[in-house]
Amino acid sequence: MNINILTIFPEIFEILKFGVLSRSISNKTLLISLFDIRANSVNRHKHIDAKPYGGGEGMVMMAEPIIKTLKKIHKKKRGHVIYLSPQGKKLNQKKIISMSKLKNITLICGRYEGIDQRIIDKYVDEEVSIGDFVLSGGEYAAICLIDAISRHIPGTLGNKESYLKDTFSNGLLKGDVYTKPEVFESMKVPDVLMSGDHKKIEAWRSEKALIKTFLKRPDLLQDIKLTKKQKKLLEEWSSNAIL
Ligand code: ADE
Repeated sequence: MNINILTIFPEIFEILKFGVLSRSISNKTLLISLFDIRANSVNRHKHIDAKPYGGGEGMVMMAEPIIKTLKKIHKKKRGHVIYLSPQGKKLNQKKIISMSKLKNITLICGRYEGIDQRIIDKYVDEEVSIGDFVLSGGEYAAICLIDAISRHIPGTLGNKESYLKDTFSNGLLKGDVYTKPEVFESMKVPDVLMSGDHKKIEAWRSEKALIKTFLKRPDLLQDIKLTKKQKKLLEEWSSNAIL
């Protein structure tokens, strides 16, 4: 997969050199190409922003430097053009999985009060938000997006199966996890995990994932079709539990 990034702060993306993500970059299953918007300023002072027409707060990123930068990328290599913005559609795991199947993506990172609307109207395929809060730059959102996508690119994760078991991948949160030591501050790891009985462990994990989702994120249950067994389990569990 090829990801083009348009930014005024290419250095921020140094962070992609760390962790599992760096693996897919070094084995070239993920190609990151950075494009500096300021280098394409049409202004001799290298300005890339200006005051908003009609007055108002802050500065707006001008159309020309961004489009000049975008045009440096061959149309075929641009692929799906995404503008990271708090006004975009909220990202979720389903969306990440479908994006991970694309060959080319171009991310436009805005700063200040945003980018000139004409860029969005003419050149952007999709506006994407990572949540209902405002960041000081789209770069941080782009990093989250790239990290989440990379987990679905073969060659990123050591254990191929692990992304399949991620929280959200089956529509549920992931169940509780434990590691050494067996007893920590008088709290013992659940017996079933020490039993060696893989069938029982799997059943316990599925049950935990379901109940945890019910308690922490019941909204997620609206989007999945529960099996008869899962429905029964939830009914039994809620009638026994003191909520
Ligand atoms: N830029 C600023 N805030 C953002 C957000 N919440 N998501 C994506 N891009 C942003």
